[in-house]
Amino acid sequence: MAWREVIVELHQGHRASMPLTWICLLLLSADGPVCRAWMITTAPPPRRSIQSREHTGHHRRGGGERHDQRWYRRTSRSHTAASAFDNAAAIDDDVSSPIAVMPPMPFRDEASFVVAGEIIPPGATTATTTTATATMPLRQSPSSSNPLLSPPRYIPNPYGWLRDETRTNVTVLDHLHAENKYTEHMTSHLVELREDLYREFLSSIQETDYTTPALKTTTTATEGGIGGYWYYTRFEEGESYPRYCRAPRSSSVDDLYPPPVNAGWDVIITNPNNNETRLGPLLTDEEVYLDVPSLARDKKYLATGAIAISPNQKHVAYTLDERGGETCQLYVRDIESSKVRTLMRYHSNNDDRNDDDDDATAEGDDDLNTPLDAPQECDGSVVWNDVGDALFYVTMDAAHRPYRLYRRRVFDFDGHWIDARDDRVDGDELLMEEEDETFNIRISKSFDGRYLLVRSSSKESSEVHYLDLRPELASSQGGTSPAKNDLVCIAKRRPKVLYRVTHCQGFWLVQTNVGGLPNLSLKACRVGEEYLETWKDVVRYDADAPVPVFDGGHERSLDGVTVFNPSFEGGTSPSPLPLSYGVVTGREDGMPRVWILEFSDEKRQSSNDFSPLTVGQMTRLEFDEDAYDVGIGGNRDPSLPYVVICYDSLITPPSHIAVPLHRPSDLGARRILKAKDVPGYNKDSYACERTTVTSRDGKAIPVSLVYHRDVLKKRNDGPVPTHLYGYGSYGASIEASFRSTRLPLLNRKVVYVLAHVRGGGELGRPWYDEAKYLTKKNSFNDFVDVARWLAGDATDDGLNTNPVESSVGRGITTPRKLSCEGRSAGGLLVGASLNQHPELFRAAILGVPFVDVACTMVDATIPLTSLEWEEWGNPNEEKFFDYILSYSPINNIKNGAEYPACLITGGLNDPRVQVRVTCSVLHQYWEPAKYSAELRHRTCDKSGPILLKMEMDSGS
Ligand SMILES: *[C@@H]1O[C@H](CO)[C@@H](O)[C@H](O)[C@H]1NC(C)=O
Ligand SMILES: *[C@@H]1O[C@H](CO)[C@@H](O)[C@H](O)[C@H]1NC(C)=O
Ligand SMILES: *[C@@H]1O[C@H](CO)[C@@H](O)[C@H](O)[C@H]1NC(C)=O
Repeated sequence: MAWREVIVELHQGHRASMPLTWICLLLLSADGPVCRAWMITTAPPPRRSIQSREHTGHHRRGGGERHDQRWYRRTSRSHTAASAFDNAAAIDDDVSSPIAVMPPMPFRDEASFVVAGEIIPPGATTATTTTATATMPLRQSPSSSNPLLSPPRYIPNPYGWLRDETRTNVTVLDHLHAENKYTEHMTSHLVELREDLYREFLSSIQETDYTTPALKTTTTATEGGIGGYWYYTRFEEGESYPRYCRAPRSSSVDDLYPPPVNAGWDVIITNPNNNETRLGPLLTDEEVYLDVPSLARDKKYLATGAIAISPNQKHVAYTLDERGGETCQLYVRDIESSKVRTLMRYHSNNDDRNDDDDDATAEGDDDLNTPLDAPQECDGSVVWNDVGDALFYVTMDAAHRPYRLYRRRVFDFDGHWIDARDDRVDGDELLMEEEDETFNIRISKSFDGRYLLVRSSSKESSEVHYLDLRPELASSQGGTSPAKNDLVCIAKRRPKVLYRVTHCQGFWLVQTNVGGLPNLSLKACRVGEEYLETWKDVVRYDADAPVPVFDGGHERSLDGVTVFNPSFEGGTSPSPLPLSYGVVTGREDGMPRVWILEFSDEKRQSSNDFSPLTVGQMTRLEFDEDAYDVGIGGNRDPSLPYVVICYDSLITPPSHIAVPLHRPSDLGARRILKAKDVPGYNKDSYACERTTVTSRDGKAIPVSLVYHRDVLKKRNDGPVPTHLYGYGSYGASIEASFRSTRLPLLNRKVVYVLAHVRGGGELGRPWYDEAKYLTKKNSFNDFVDVARWLAGDATDDGLNTNPVESSVGRGITTPRKLSCEGRSAGGLLVGASLNQHPELFRAAILGVPFVDVACTMVDATIPLTSLEWEEWGNPNEEKFFDYILSYSPINNIKNGAEYPACLITGGLNDPRVQVRVTCSVLHQYWEPAKYSAELRHRTCDKSGPILLKMEMDSGS
């Protein structure tokens, strides 16, 4: 089984006055969340059979119009409970025996090295068994001018033989199995606790659920009223896929806000006529417009791409990947009649325009075989035109690069489907082709439906074209309207210039880093006058002094803008509000933020420096908790007077909140539309805090803490068990978000702490840059300093507290009751921190850890290593070698020191296929395997158990 995401949690506490360390592990597999909980302990309780079962995880929400917004993703959950642990009960019954068993001690080859630096010419090599390959591997990026180490240097690699890229060597596999056996054995006494925890995890999860209904009004409604539908997605316990549903909007007075859901919506109803079962309707007159479970029936694989409702809300266009090949086919369903059409490839023999398209399928020459019968392949995105009679879609080249934009007319003037065979069709119109192979194209529609937006982008630059879908509006507004079919470029691509656009009443709001800004700034230009030079900062006037609202600096960063043009006031008949509002997501002061910009209705004269589109009011949404996670929710209609945001915190389960655009700071005017139900959870029992810890070099490191309120009472009795989590690489931020999987720890009175160390992005780009390359150690120092603060400084007696700083925090615990955890690059953080202060922690979890930094980074034959040089530096170069070697965890284990109990996890599968591309190089199975062996070899006997859990299944 592949690990898409691993949530590992640990608990320490007292039971019958015996100090315990419990670790439980939750795995989310690539093809669906599966929970496996297990623990290690230093004092074994009795044992029974071992549990392992699936479990739904919290998933960070994704944005965009392509999917209905949902709180967590439920993919395949059809997993059986089979796991490596199922056999564990068979192990020896002697309760005290786990301690007596010897861990696997693999063969150690002191003569094995990895060579860093200038490569040794073949034949002249020494007798060492290096991992360098016979072909000359790439030693540095072509763009690097740093000198290579010369002569080369040797990195000890005594367990190098554990690296078997074929993953078939019996000696290696036997060793990994022995490690797993040992881990099973050492944890076999924890069954009772494991069962308890498992029940607790399950009890806090409600699988049958739905997303907040989102309104999409129709302006073409009959009878003078404003029509429309509520759109939502339903999830059912035991189903692998959701159902996409909607219900007509009633015409009651206050119906711009979602109506209450029907009683019995989560009760299964059986239809006596055909014995089909389904849940009760959530809203009256519910219809399922896309029933994915039924589409997936009898299919081995199914993934939905885009789901697009036509502007008249009569049809749904959707794309499905039915083969796992990342190419999609396009379907259009008439919602009322349930009739489904497949977009077929139009391919007449005298039309050579589409010939290259065959690349996308690599299935041979369709011209000769079945020219008309093949479904059109596409990249999965689809956009309707304004009238709802044509679709825009994108095809891919042989390398699966989305590169061509087509328009296909699918309905004739009478609303009849036009088949590809039909003579009346002109076929597909190729509107654009991206020729640069480093660029992908991606299509979307502006939120107001006016423009098709086509973004060509590479990693470092982008270019947006647009097509006016209502050109008649442009001419009626006296604007210059380009010909109907012309895509207009907003600004030609330039190296290192990224930009995106959002339409706002005749202006483009441009989000761009142009000018070498560290972050995106907000600029604007008039539609029709778009070239880079006309982009001007969007400002607000503060006592007549213009202040750019987002200047692209470090203080305040910008992620995206959604523009609303409300034409209704809540609760009353339509009455136009003159203003446009921009809802901006970004970060400030270390946290995600949402701002509401109220654009001024009087456009200033175009000054030389600032955009005529100005902001009258800018309001940052505030909440009464110290630390939280906030973003924009599922919004479907820009004419509504409110925006739906999603909000959660360390103690507040995710909720959707409607914020009235004209009164964004009025807390009383906000409405909670839906709060995620966490059965049995009572928020009042918990508390969270945000504070800072001063690092050794004087930086204020943000720290988030969450705990059960009883901890405050307990702390008078002595140190409190505490678990510290960190990441600190790639500029990624750890958000103060809710996790129900954390509750079993909190309920056992463990304080859970997030250290927002440098190397992350919490405080913007500089936070990242300050712990990168030759300053990477700042991440580890910060983590250790936060741990020392929690455990009481060496100068303290271990119980010293400073209630002014925070009610929990400094001195809350001792090293005997402090555990830590990190995954992937966070495993590097933990590994390096343990080497710095092994005595500071009682237990550590290193999930698929990146602990063999030096050896891995030398070797560009591991997929994507060369990209990782951008993150860590290249140890083949003089500049980086010594520095990387001085922190690489496996090379710096303290000889003879007492280390904490360590749980180290890995997966045998090839990360090229299984793990998210960004970190694949870090997740090679041999890193945790080598590290575990090295830890056991070097640390003293009094160290805690070192357990390696290697997932051996192959993608099952
Ligand atoms: C497996 O690996 C071990 C250790 O490197 C090696 O001695 C052995 O020859 C390998 N076996 C095979 C079949 O390649
Ligand atoms: C429904 O199920 C019952 C019990 O299994 C069966 O007797 C009945 O014939 C079924 N009805 C239909 C319409 O399939
Ligand atoms: C802007 O800053 C954020 C963090 O504040 C960072 O994640 C992001 O990468 C930055 N954007 C650019 C373009 O550098």
